[in-house]
Amino acid sequence: MELFDVYPLYDITPVKGEGAYVFDENNIEYLDLYGGHAVISVGHSHPLYVKAITDQVNKLGFYSNSIKNPLQKELAEKLETVSGVKDYSLFLCNSGAEANENALKLASFQTGKDKVIYFEKAFHGRTSGVVAVTDNEGIKAPFNKGHHAVKLAFDDTEALENELKKGDVAAVIFEVIQGVGGLDEASTEFYKKASELCEKHGAILIADEVQAGYGRTGDFFAFQKHGIRPDIISMAKGMGNGFPIGGILIDSKIQAKPGMLGTTFGGNHLACAAGIAVLEIIEKEELIGNAKALFDYVKEHAAQIPQIKKVKGRGLMIGLEFDFEIASLRKKLLFEHHVFTGAASNKKLLRILPPLNIKQEQFDVFFEALNMALS
Ligand SMILES: Cc1ncc(COP(=O)(O)O)c(C=O)c1O
Repeated sequence: MELFDVYPLYDITPVKGEGAYVFDENNIEYLDLYGGHAVISVGHSHPLYVKAITDQVNKLGFYSNSIKNPLQKELAEKLETVSGVKDYSLFLCNSGAEANENALKLASFQTGKDKVIYFEKAFHGRTSGVVAVTDNEGIKAPFNKGHHAVKLAFDDTEALENELKKGDVAAVIFEVIQGVGGLDEASTEFYKKASELCEKHGAILIADEVQAGYGRTGDFFAFQKHGIRPDIISMAKGMGNGFPIGGILIDSKIQAKPGMLGTTFGGNHLACAAGIAVLEIIEKEELIGNAKALFDYVKEHAAQIPQIKKVKGRGLMIGLEFDFEIASLRKKLLFEHHVFTGAASNKKLLRILPPLNIKQEQFDVFFEALNMALS
């Protein structure tokens, strides 16, 4: 049987990973500055993570959400401690799209409304409702276009106010730092005003932290820098370091009702073991501080490369904007210098999303490779 051919593939077959490196079947080492779409948070095959999953699967891998699973509570407590956000409850699911889908559904239940505001260059996933609030018409089927969604310019407070004033908005959803869209971040004034306006007009503010969350930006959540309190926070990628797990944090003003949300696999024993191990490692190895510190190092080095026009993002969610389209540079980095990097919808932007335990020396290896590839 053939695979449904939707992914353009590089001719590389990683079979092993360790820290910030992956190895192919010929044992060739690749520096991973992409973390498999920003997923690898605590590094490939981290021994504590491997042990936690191995121990758990040896005991119990899965049972449904119809029984007590103390690991879910342990994960929620740990998440509160490490993230510093209080007075939220946790609903667990399996991916970023599913997290956002549940966030929108909850906002609609809470407000009794169906309209959602999203922003230019936003990416929130590919399932029914979240693809409707993603700024990419090419990935929306007619089925997805039936949703009541309005797109606005990012960082435009006036447009947001005008739309919210109509009184029919269930939710405003944004990525504080846009990932796929190219690392744009609006002003603190915008996030603060969006928060105030949602409160005033009875709409739910959803921060999509699927990519930026879990320490990647040098804060546990990217919104924390702006001093706001979203009503719902969605998470996934870094949460399981590759084990499929997602979730939403829900403000205490939103009350749960039995059956309101649900999933078969969400919050299973194995996923919780992976999620708890990730948080323990982030805390123990101070990976959020590492992400913050390395950004300055990257900025300093990038400033010495004349072809780099701008450094975008924060922490280890970085965009290097060149004065040319970077598709062939990325290929050179990968095939000649064995460095994985990412692209964005802005074709001049090289995305850097490494594991959060990457070291300064590994960035030296990258900059050496980059200088060679550019010469
Ligand atoms: C900000 C953001 N939200 C949601 C998603 C969707 O996550 P998933 O692919 O796990 O469904 C992504 C994936 O890239 C993302 O970057």
